[in-house]
Amino acid sequence: MSTASEPTVRVMHIDPEKDRGDFHAALAIREVVFIEEQSVPESIERDAEDARAWHVLAWDGPHAVGTGRLVELPETPEGESGHWGQVGRMAVLTAHRGRGLGRMILEHLEAEAGRRGLSGIKLHAQVHAFPFYEKMGYRRVGDEFMEAGIPHVECRKALA
Ligand code: COA
Repeated sequence: MSTASEPTVRVMHIDPEKDRGDFHAALAIREVVFIEEQSVPESIERDAEDARAWHVLAWDGPHAVGTGRLVELPETPEGESGHWGQVGRMAVLTAHRGRGLGRMILEHLEAEAGRRGLSGIKLHAQVHAFPFYEKMGYRRVGDEFMEAGIPHVECRKALA
């Protein structure tokens, strides 16, 4: 078994149009994690944002094991300034959690947000996952709310 510190673990950008097989692998990971594991309705998990989002796929050797996406927001979050992005669909297959892959995925998405000159990132964190985002520098904004039948909190991180 490899570990996250070995070079076999990597995160790459994928284009839904050009890298169709890889995009289907990302959708399959989301299906396992969100639709099967968390009982999120497929009608919510699959949305129109996928077509315009910047997607990444995490690999452990030949196996696709995690994914996430970045979408540029049309409106600045209340109380902020500049152009912001939203991270979402962060998913790592169960057997691969706790090995630094989630961190690698989020860092890739943040790096892309930085290349685009975005002022910050917001996301809707499932409450159980908030400590993960907090470790990555995100702060909670506002009260808990329900989304897809799961308690969430809005989180934000300003980018330097
Ligand atoms: N609670 C507390 N700490 C957590 C955590 C959790 N649920 N998940 C990760 N962490 C911590 C890790 O211990 C690690 O801390 P360290 O740097 O001090 O060692 C750090 O966050 C980075 O963790 P990492 O191993 O990179 O996270 P991961 O690969 O397990 O991925 C998720 C994190 C949330 C993407 C993954 O658990 C997942 O896919 N969950 C199911 C889908 C989901 O809920 N997605 C989030 C939707 S908002």
